[in-house]
Amino acid sequence: MSLDPDDLSPLRALGHRMLDDLFDELDALRAGPVWRPMPERVRQAWDAPLPRAGLPATAVYDAYRELVAPFAVGNRHPRFFGWVHGGGTAIGMLAELLAGGLNANCGGRDHAPIACEGQVIRWAAEMLEFPDDASGLLVTGSSIANFIAVLVARRAALGASVRRDGTGGAALTAYASAASHLCVSRAFDMAGLGSQALRLIACDDTGALQYAALQQAIAADRRAGLHPFMVVGTAGSVDTGAIDPLAAIADICAAEQLWFHVDAAFGALAMLSPRLRPLFAGLSRADSVAFDFHKWAQVPYDAGCIMVRDAGAHRAAFAREVAYLRREPRGLAAGEPWPVDLGPDLSRGFRALKIWMTLKTVGADRLADMVEHSCALARRLAAAVDAEPRLERMAPVALNIVCFRDRRGDDARQAALAADLQEAGEPVLSTTTIAGRTALRAAFVNHRTTQDDVDAIVPAVLAAGSRGG
Ligand SMILES: Cc1ncc(COP(=O)(O)O)c(C=O)c1O
Repeated sequence: MSLDPDDLSPLRALGHRMLDDLFDELDALRAGPVWRPMPERVRQAWDAPLPRAGLPATAVYDAYRELVAPFAVGNRHPRFFGWVHGGGTAIGMLAELLAGGLNANCGGRDHAPIACEGQVIRWAAEMLEFPDDASGLLVTGSSIANFIAVLVARRAALGASVRRDGTGGAALTAYASAASHLCVSRAFDMAGLGSQALRLIACDDTGALQYAALQQAIAADRRAGLHPFMVVGTAGSVDTGAIDPLAAIADICAAEQLWFHVDAAFGALAMLSPRLRPLFAGLSRADSVAFDFHKWAQVPYDAGCIMVRDAGAHRAAFAREVAYLRREPRGLAAGEPWPVDLGPDLSRGFRALKIWMTLKTVGADRLADMVEHSCALARRLAAAVDAEPRLERMAPVALNIVCFRDRRGDDARQAALAADLQEAGEPVLSTTTIAGRTALRAAFVNHRTTQDDVDAIVPAVLAAGSRGG
């Protein structure tokens, strides 16, 4: 019983309309609000019973236009500066359509979507200056990429038995800066090592890990009979964009035989820029790197990546033979490696296509220029903040993130100010805590952002601050 309509032409016409609407939305982005809260009527519409009978696709699309499209996150908009959200591209949007059309299952087997993923992984290796034969896998995002890195490092530290018997009480310890992302700590919790196994090392006043404190923590754990096995460097911290001393961490990992992983969720893309790459010296010596194509590379969500230098170590953490997934020398069940051997997912969509099409269309050089432009915009905002006595800058600008505060208000007022701006459809800023105080935070990740968009931030914050004050 096919679910396809007998006559596809009305759906084809609807598809054309959808595509036109999407391009119209892109054309009109700048004129609209950055974000709109869902009105009560829309919230209530999301509590309908399971539809027993189908509706015409045009009616369902009308519901999408009414309930979904106007109330999305807003990260396509050039004035979206919250968290670390990429803006997406038109070519990536089209690639998603093509991937949906193919409906390929990318858990394994011998077909072009797997070859496409292999190509993207080799490009990632080139960008990170990893060896050509490094292994990698596309995943939802850096949260899962960091988790996979912990599992690979755990397997490398404890050997094959950990996959059968668990950690058996092995007192593994690992190290990351206090500014590392929450997902790093959660990775240790999910890997059964406990989040306490991750020692959070103090940062200096630029937000980068203090190397001496790392050395001391490793030595103290060794003296206590524990088993240090991994250091996670951060290359672009979520709060301020700070970069850990990666080369020094690489040295200590080599000397102490520790797995060196880098969370470069957005920072990795700066490796494309000859001007920014020196800031990341040491990253290419990592055993593994987690990063996202959906952040600074502008690929539509979701598109994360884990890269592992030693392909054998990567495979050893996940591969297992079972009859129904047997590899054959020829036919569809041929091909090597299968992504199922490199991560927890068996069924997976065709994420590689939107990355392949984006990179081929934009080219690495333009991406590098865009990354540099984002950093220049961040410096521009920092200068505007510094020039405004009512504002206070809260952290140095290492890359593309500016943290500041309205001196006229307390912590609660900063958060209220961000929410006021969001609800007014004005620039979206997020908040974080710097040295115990709430900061407004602008991250420049969107390729559509211009100097005019940056210049609108300070006046908008001052006006909102005056209204609320
Ligand atoms: C430094 C860092 N690590 C990890 C993550 C988590 O990445 P994802 O949201 O893709 O899982 C982020 C997200 O912003 C991040 O900035």
